Amino acid sequence: MAIKMQTLLLTPSDENIKKAAEIIKNGGLVGMPTETVYGLAGNALDGSVVKKIYAAKGRPSDNPLIVHIADFDSWKNLVVSVPEKAMKAAEAFWPGPLTVILKKSSLIPPETSGGLDTVAVRMPSHPAARKLIKECGLPLAAPSANSSGKPSPTKASHVMADLEGKIDAVLDGGDCDIGVESTVVSFVGEKAVILRPGGVTPAMLEKVLGEKPVIDKACFAEVDNKARVSSPGMKYKHYSPDANVIILKGSIEKFVSYVESHLQSDEAVICFNGEENLFSCPCFPYGDENDDLSQAKNLFSVLRLVDSRGFKTVYARYPRTEGVGLAVYNRLIRAAGFEVKDL
Ligand code: TXA
Ligand code: MG
Repeated sequence: MAIKMQTLLLTPSDENIKKAAEIIKNGGLVGMPTETVYGLAGNALDGSVVKKIYAAKGRPSDNPLIVHIADFDSWKNLVVSVPEKAMKAAEAFWPGPLTVILKKSSLIPPETSGGLDTVAVRMPSHPAARKLIKECGLPLAAPSANSSGKPSPTKASHVMADLEGKIDAVLDGGDCDIGVESTVVSFVGEKAVILRPGGVTPAMLEKVLGEKPVIDKACFAEVDNKARVSSPGMKYKHYSPDANVIILKGSIEKFVSYVESHLQSDEAVICFNGEENLFSCPCFPYGDENDDLSQAKNLFSVLRLVDSRGFKTVYARYPRTEGVGLAVYNRLIRAAGFEVKDL
């Protein structure tokens, strides 16, 4: 059996951030808090480090990683050029939950870009992430710090649960503010294309770009596993819970009556705050009904909780699809295998 390494759990003090930066500069991997979800950070310019990231997560190596930077100057070295639209979007939303895809420069090794000729770059706003990147003096490749197939981690304890013994350290920056991953936008073509909805909404992008961004169809429909997709992440189910997740769309009255008439043992409900007492089975609220931000913040944590309890089927309330709710909906329908039942 392989000997497991010890994973340090560190508070994000200046001293510990220096320690984490030393680990990364020596080719190690660190769980890094960001405002979206925790990332698993390593030197983005070193292909052998990036291979270790894929191995720790159990992630297919054709699914490229996001490169995290702390200033605009670093960006220019990583890409061939920055078109005006991409610059407008970055200036409006960086530091923050926006990932920009452009043609990559030769600095980016093929491991980081999953063999593509493009690279995804993001400037996170979480102070610990910013300090860590600056202290390293390197762009950091950081996919979400979960084992492949698990929900993204929004707490340091989630990272430890998935990766303890496989990575060098985790910086505990508390709960992630946004709770779903960044909005991934390609600026490779004429039009901006959203490849993954996230904290920056289509309406926010439209306001800044002066035109509606295209939303890639693969965000909301299943794609053929062998198909060529704009974002390789879309062909993977991402989060595939052991439980069968069924999203039910309709009023709370219809939802309760459907669940209560179909309910068997080993089943549970993912509902909104305040609805917990309406069901005879275990209930897990994931936010306020009319508050997309609260749903985004809690969704992954609730999905992890439900998984750990071993339910066979979980009925979920249909999320708000406006604003950041579009991202919540995208993550939830993936968990449900793209099926929504109208009541
Ligand atoms: O909020 C986030 O984006 C978090 C934090 C840690 O920054 N990171 C994250 O990384 O979610 P990851 O690796 O779990 O998701 C990156 C997504 C994948 O779906 C991947 O396929 C896509 O971005 N992606 C990365 N590079 C790409 C590229 N060059 N072209 C198209 N899609 C790309
Ligand atoms: Mg991920």
